[in-house]
Amino acid sequence: MGLLGEGINEVIATTWGNAAPMGIILRDGVYRMVLFRGSHTAMNIERWGWVVANMVHDPVLWVRTAFSDLPAPAFAEESVEGFLVHRLPEAEAWIAFDAAIGNRARESLAVTLAPMKEEILSPQVHPVNRGYNSVIEAAVHGTRWLWNKDPALRELIDHHRSIIRRCGGPGELEALGLLEGYLGIADKPSS
Ligand SMILES: Cc1cc2nc3c(=O)[nH]c(=O)nc-3n(C[C@H](O)[C@H](O)[C@H](O)COP(=O)(O)O)c2cc1C
Repeated sequence: MGLLGEGINEVIATTWGNAAPMGIILRDGVYRMVLFRGSHTAMNIERWGWVVANMVHDPVLWVRTAFSDLPAPAFAEESVEGFLVHRLPEAEAWIAFDAAIGNRARESLAVTLAPMKEEILSPQVHPVNRGYNSVIEAAVHGTRWLWNKDPALRELIDHHRSIIRRCGGPGELEALGLLEGYLGIADKPSS
């Protein structure tokens, strides 16, 4: 099993009935996640001990899953080692991991992952689009900015908003509108 690369792989992680963007770290053959406490993903992994990494390339889905919950029909069931897991139906590929909680810090949980099953369903070619990349960046900063309203994060978000406007296609622009709605910002980015 080797769909993920060395470094941090950004995926949409599904647990039972929940989806959220998460980083899966692969270093020296070891797969891990660092989860901020309080997310549904962290609670579900603690409870059930598995997570599915979905490889998806829909900018709207990244923003929607970062800031809200998907309805129940948004998940497809898969049988992995005799039990049922949830994945996203639009995943181009997915990997189910056994997930064991390691270090519990005040604000985060360290999780060690062991791949159980992976499947490549419908791989597609994705020409590089800076607007798409900026949707991911703006969403990461946006999830943190909602917590702390740090002005430095707001500047980064505005920088990526302007790249999305310049380089994005219809999907990226729709994702931008959603993101601005979730963040409650509608002014024109200055950068
Ligand atoms: C690209 C991206 C990567 C993220 N990576 C992580 C991560 O590694 N760990 C984490 O706790 N949150 C991460 N987040 C933030 C979560 O997606 C966000 O807090 C989300 O609301 C959690 O949803 P949930 O409560 O349904 O689990 C990331 C967000 C984005 C956009």
